[in-house]
Amino acid sequence: MKVLLVGNGGREHAIAWKLLQDDPSLELICAPGNAGLAEIAECIPVKPTDVRGLAAFAHRADVDLTVVGPEAPLAGGIVDAFHEDKKAIFGPTRAAAEIETSKRFAKSIMETAAVPTAHATHHRRADDAIAAANALGTPVVIKASGLAAGKGVVVAQSSEEAERAINLMLRDRAFGDAGEEILVEEFMEGEELSVFAITDGTNFITMLPAQDHKRLLDGDLGPNTGGMGAYAPVSIATPSLMNIVSAHVFEPVLAEMHRQGRPFTGLLYAGLMVSESGPRVVEFNCRFGDPETQAILPLMQSSLLDLINAVAEGASLAGMEPIQWSTDHAATTVLAAHGYPDSVRTGDGVRVPALPNRVYVFHAATTRDSESGELRTSGGRVLSVTGVGETIAAAVEGSTAHAERISFDGKQFRRDIGWRELERSARAT
Ligand code: AMP
Ligand code: GLY
Repeated sequence: MKVLLVGNGGREHAIAWKLLQDDPSLELICAPGNAGLAEIAECIPVKPTDVRGLAAFAHRADVDLTVVGPEAPLAGGIVDAFHEDKKAIFGPTRAAAEIETSKRFAKSIMETAAVPTAHATHHRRADDAIAAANALGTPVVIKASGLAAGKGVVVAQSSEEAERAINLMLRDRAFGDAGEEILVEEFMEGEELSVFAITDGTNFITMLPAQDHKRLLDGDLGPNTGGMGAYAPVSIATPSLMNIVSAHVFEPVLAEMHRQGRPFTGLLYAGLMVSESGPRVVEFNCRFGDPETQAILPLMQSSLLDLINAVAEGASLAGMEPIQWSTDHAATTVLAAHGYPDSVRTGDGVRVPALPNRVYVFHAATTRDSESGELRTSGGRVLSVTGVGETIAAAVEGSTAHAERISFDGKQFRRDIGWRELERSARAT
């Protein structure tokens, strides 16, 4: 089987690793990949956003299945282009991907389908937005409606901070068209949880819930990032909570997407806020999360390839067995470059020592110098290190210890991944 994997992050390296575990004879091609992916797959220099180029490649190379990692190609209509050519691809159409690419659209779906979420209003004029923010009080959340690479959300602690964020988005157009419309949203208290569902558009199977660490620094301080680490399983995701998430989030949203003529197939990611009053949706993404994927795939015992292939081929997931998971724990630490998330420095030499047992390194922004063979940083999130163990403490220990041993100038990483779960497990014993 010939598989094309689109993307170049730690998420894609983890997906590639898992697909090859599922079928070692797989012929895997990545566009464009990274230095880690180049060790396990053929890499081709086609950009993820070059939808036409990717469709032409898949046609020419007779690719059997295409898997899309990042949201940008989905927003660019890669699935629509492959469908026109009758090629199998895993992911939502451009219209369905709007659940991530337009936060306003996501809110309207949730309102129509009565899905629990924060109250929000949408605005194109700064004066109206400021008035709405003042009416909500603080903290208040200001969000660009469009795709802003994880940077378009400000949790404002004061009305001055809210006004600054609104002016930055609507008057200074800091996020361009992505911020020409913004949401002013009620702040939700609670603990975050990421739940992925693989869906054929009607039926769905949830994956092992994970928790991301969005802030740059230990103690959940510093700026928001794409994600500095993750762990799974998460003990707040009890079977009864997961039943609520299925019945009150995934089922009504998938049904409403169908009703609106844009059925969602592929992977639907629900970012939740969990509090005593139950789970509420923070956001949806239309693809696997990064770094949650690097934490959960090493625990997945069922075949990811079979599931993805079934959905891409248009098969029904009705009656499908739940996914089998190892009873172990996994923790992922992201190593970021100097200056991340603002002004990233690239080109630093990277040394990755030999892997201890039950530790996995997934590359993200790495390249290999064609002359010296040296590994170098090439972007913000450089590598992720997943530790697996019988307890959350063992998983975190394996991940953190190896994150310490990997070296490059300017390396930034959190040493407190899984702190909430560690506290809970300490309390339980
Ligand atoms: P998003 O890009 O929508 O996931 O937002 C990025 C991060 O901002 C989330 O992971 C939360 O930590 C925080 N956030 C977004 N919306 C809210 C909200 N309504 N209440 C509290 N925190 C929020
Ligand atoms: N981990 C957050 C995301 O993938 O968007």
